[in-house]
Amino acid sequence: MQDFDACSREYREYVETYLNKWYSRFENEPQKPLFEAMQYSLLAGGKRLRPIFAFEFCRLCGAPWQNAVPFAAAIEMIHTYSLIHDDLPCMDNDDFRRGRPTNHKVFGEAMAVLAGDALLTDAFCVASTANLRGSAMADAIGILAECAGSLGMVGGQVLDIMSEERTLSEQEVLDIQSRKTGALINAACVLGVMAAGGSEEQIAAAGRFAGLLGLAFQIRDDMLDVIGTQEEMGKSVGTDANKNTFVRLYGLEKCEELVNRYTNEAIASLSAFKDTQYIIALARSLTERRT
Ligand code: IPE
Ligand code: IPE
Ligand code: MG
Ligand code: MG
Ligand code: MG
Repeated sequence: MQDFDACSREYREYVETYLNKWYSRFENEPQKPLFEAMQYSLLAGGKRLRPIFAFEFCRLCGAPWQNAVPFAAAIEMIHTYSLIHDDLPCMDNDDFRRGRPTNHKVFGEAMAVLAGDALLTDAFCVASTANLRGSAMADAIGILAECAGSLGMVGGQVLDIMSEERTLSEQEVLDIQSRKTGALINAACVLGVMAAGGSEEQIAAAGRFAGLLGLAFQIRDDMLDVIGTQEEMGKSVGTDANKNTFVRLYGLEKCEELVNRYTNEAIASLSAFKDTQYIIALARSLTERRT
């Protein structure tokens, strides 16, 4: 394995350059403020975790990891749109994201809604440039749409909003998480395998990994709302006090234990792959993340 940090940086820079190039073609379009608003959030320096998963699962299946870039970029665009809308006053009403004022604070609510709409829709243009044969392309686009839409991320956001007035059971909190956060992480891992033409067995293994890792990731996200700082996280913290988070459900100490447990289970589900040092190191690094 190449040095872990160097490898992560290479993946991150590759998707950022790709996204930059994609939008630089539209510099002379008259709807300039829309592109400004989209790029403001898209190129604001998130962790790029979902693209990294797509690249790495593609590589683990024996193909050049660059093959996954249309899916990696599309998922990052959908993720970014979900963050722009999540921060709106009608949703979480947050002021700070990815180290800067939230999109609606800078561009206004209407433009923030439209920037999110455009990122979601453009993501399917980007994904459609992937080099997949025959029905595999339609399958991949279907998976992306399902993970993003009413059965996936948007469905989870709705369950989250619906739950604000009452205390949820463990199963209900898990049902929200698997949709609002788990679904896009699932798309990233599974589409990485598909970009490589991987087997059904590898797709299933990537899905199992994503389910467990996504759960650990959201538990840690909920912990960081309590123990993190705005400076480190680049987003508002302490804003989930009245929400049905994993911290409310389990308390901080048990959350820490569960992040480790689910991460270990995620790692154990990687036995269908060889050369897993990087992804194991990545999964472990997320258990103690402060960003
Ligand atoms: C934040 O996701 C929202 C959740 C799904 C928990 P990330 O923590 O991956 O945010 P960025 O992409 O690094 O900004
Ligand atoms: C949001 O979950 C998940 C999304 C689909 C955006 P959160 O509301 O906990 O995400 P943060 O903490 O604002 O990033
Ligand atoms: Mg939210
Ligand atoms: Mg939020
Ligand atoms: Mg959160």
